Parts: sequence; C-alpha cells; structure tokens
Amino acid sequence: MIGRDLQYAIELLKADQLVAIPTETVYGLAGNALNVEAVSQIFAVKNRPSFDPLIVHTSSLERLQTFVTDFPKNALLLAEAFMPGPLTLLLPKKELIPDLVTAGSPLVALRIPQHPLTLALLQQLDFPLAAPSANPFGYISPTTAQHVVQQLGQKIPYILDGGACDIGLESTIVGFEQEKVIIYRKGGIPMEAIESLVGKVELKPHSTSNPQAPGMLQSHYAPRVPLILGDIEKLLELHKGKKIGILSFQKIFPQTSPYHLITLSPTGNFAEAARNLFAGMRYLDSLDLDVMVAELLPEEDLGRAINDRLRRASVTKRSRDLEIKA
Ligand code: TXA
Ligand code: MG
Repeated sequence: MIGRDLQYAIELLKADQLVAIPTETVYGLAGNALNVEAVSQIFAVKNRPSFDPLIVHTSSLERLQTFVTDFPKNALLLAEAFMPGPLTLLLPKKELIPDLVTAGSPLVALRIPQHPLTLALLQQLDFPLAAPSANPFGYISPTTAQHVVQQLGQKIPYILDGGACDIGLESTIVGFEQEKVIIYRKGGIPMEAIESLVGKVELKPHSTSNPQAPGMLQSHYAPRVPLILGDIEKLLELHKGKKIGILSFQKIFPQTSPYHLITLSPTGNFAEAARNLFAGMRYLDSLDLDVMVAELLPEEDLGRAINDRLRRASVTKRSRDLEIKA
C-alpha cells in the first residue's frame, strides 16, 4: 500500500515491520534499527548481503549523539552545517546499535534526513531507523514512491509517499581518522562545501557492496541495459543501427527520437541534473533498448557524485577502476 498516513507508518514500525520512507536524497527501506528481527527483514527484502552495513536515521543531533562513543570536532562542525541534510557521519558506535546494522564494524553510519514527513515520523518514534536505499540490491536507487512500488511493492506493507526526492543522489558519507576527514562516498553534499569548513579532505574509494573486498561486484546502481560512457556524438556513430538511449547533461540530439533522450539539465545546473539522474536512468532502462550512452559532467560540485554514479552504472571493468580518481 502507498499513502501519506504517518500514524499507520508509526504503527507498522513499532511492530517491527518495514516501511519505505521518503528522504531528500532517495527513498529508504526503513525498520527499527535497534531490533535485529526488523533489520534482518531489511536485508532479506533487498536481497542484500549481510556484510553491507546500513545507515541509521534519527531526528536530531542530540539523539544522534546518544548512539556514539565519540564525536570529533570536525564531525560537529559538519553536523551543525549540514544536518538535517544529505550527510552521513561514520562514528564509533555504542553497544545498543546491533552488530548486524554495522556488519560487525565498530563504526556506525548516522544521518538526519531532511524531509518533513520522515522527520515527523522519526520524532514520534523512540528508536532510530535503519534504512538502505529502497531498491533491490545492485539496482538504481528510487527517487519517487512509484519507483519503490514497482520493485518492492509486493514485499513490504507500506510506502510513505513524500513526492519526488529533492536532491536525487544518496548522502555523502564522511569518516574521521584523528584530524583527517575522509569522504567514503560522494553524494548530495559536494566535496567543496565540506572542504570549505574542515580543509582538505581525503577521498577513499568506496565499494558499496563490500568494504572488505572492494570491487567484488562488477557494477552497482546499475540499469539492465548496458550503459556506455563517452562522447555521445561518437558513441551514436559507433552504435548506429541499434536502439540507443541517450543520457546527456545539457545537449539535445535532434537526430534521435525525443522519447529516447533524457537531458539532465538544459541550463547546465548540477542540482537539477542530480534530481533527474536516477529517474532518467530508470526511464531509459524501461524502454526496449540495445544500449544507453551517457557523458560525464564537469568534475566539480555535484558533478562529482553524478559522475561517480554514472561510472558505477556503466558496465566496463575499466570504468569501475576509474572510480573516485578525481
Ligand atoms: O542518502 C542515503 O544515504 C540513503 C537514504 C535512504 O538515507 N541511504 C543509502 O543507503 O544510500 P545504502 O544502504 O543504499 O548505502 C549506504 C552505504 C553503503 O554503501 C554501506 O556500505 C555504507 O553506506 N555504510 C553503512 N554503514 C557503514 C559502516 N558502518 N561502515 C562503512 N560503511 C557503511
Ligand atoms: Mg543503495
């Protein structure tokens, strides 16, 4: 079922059932983070391996601090600037966070989502919510309630509909080593915004699928139709005669059917491009195409996270190896 009934969502979550929730980044598949039964169901419904840990969502900085044993100065600086918002902090966990949530790691990933419905939901619960993106493991993250219905509708009792996600990219994941600030996943908060507060950061290539064995899975965030990155004009020439879908940043390609073209932002706006990226990929993936072609954006601002997702969605081993080099 899909709707906007907060009370029903609360009832289900209190009964350790799962509810899909809207956030400003992508939709999450939520359950009581302190209850092992609920957390196990999340892994089962997503078909997600248990070595891939979950982000814990809460409603305030005070609450967030009750789940950790340490809160470095830089973490506080970032939290005050970007929470609620698309920022996830990796911090040493207290014992009350089950090991299943963190896949055995002593660190827990914590975030305060900025979506009025979900914030209201979290405020009315006396436990935090573990929530990965609400897609089957390995597929593109959902940015509308309808995306969730299409893939998980039969498997969960309720989808809280909060409209289309404002940011459209997952949160930026940040960790700390002494004074150092490390970005593990590029996301909705641009690296430049983080650096303006804490100085130079380090980028650590992050395998969503398995922190212990990076690159074990060939691709992530992946559509079914092969996605090839490069110069779109050249790729169109190379794949002439095939049914091709195009994902461009700004340009229109009059020689192809408009139904097969997604232009992320005609004005070249990164935020607009981010908002349209996953829905665009899903749309093209739903057509009966032979191949999708896409171009990288300038490697700055949200362009970095968009490029990261495009590379992960593309099929070649080489494109994966280029991840997070910039
Ligand atoms: O924007 C988001 O972060 C969305 C919304 C729903 O909040 N959530 C999301 O969750 O993208 P998920 O599970 O699809 O991606 C979370 C990533 C995974 O790659 C996981 O490996 C990493 O965060 N992660 C979670 N807990 C971790 C931990 N304790 N240590 C290292 N990585 C962790
Ligand atoms: Mg995910």
